[in-house]
Amino acid sequence: MNFRRLASTVLLATLLSTGAGVVVADTEKVFDDPPPPRLEELLRKPELIARGDAIWKEQCTHCHGSKAYPGKAPKLAPRRYTPEFVWDRVHNGFRGMPPWKEVYSEEDIVAVVAYVLSDEFWP
Ligand code: HEC
Repeated sequence: MNFRRLASTVLLATLLSTGAGVVVADTEKVFDDPPPPRLEELLRKPELIARGDAIWKEQCTHCHGSKAYPGKAPKLAPRRYTPEFVWDRVHNGFRGMPPWKEVYSEEDIVAVVAYVLSDEFWP
């Protein structure tokens, strides 16, 4: 790979990883457990989005859903999130948000992240 090609690859990778122009929630923390590699790629898989949808309806809507008791949990704002942030909150938990790493496999948690960040997401 020549230098020019390398430079444009690095630039592209940077743009992708910063979500180019999207305002991002505060993710400046060290993750308890890091997300799996190639997370972004997995998020586009329709079968994972569908699995995440089912998990969301079963486990998340009673706190986060539009019919949940107001104030119980914040209304999610997926456009502000990076995949790593959603992974971290769901996998590791945070304050009132329960961790799911003992409940679901890594792939199931990726599925939830995929659903929350997909166009299909409907709280
Ligand atoms: C027992 C109620 C409860 C359940 C069930 C629950 N959450 Fe949460 N969740 C919370 C609370 C409370 C917070 C806010 C934590 C904080 O920032 O103090 C939160 C925060 C989050 C955040 C970060 C939101 C932000 O803007 O900071 C995400 C993402 C999230 N939850 C996703 C999920 C998903 C996906 C599920 C289902 C697997 C789920 N939650 C299930 C209560 C819940």
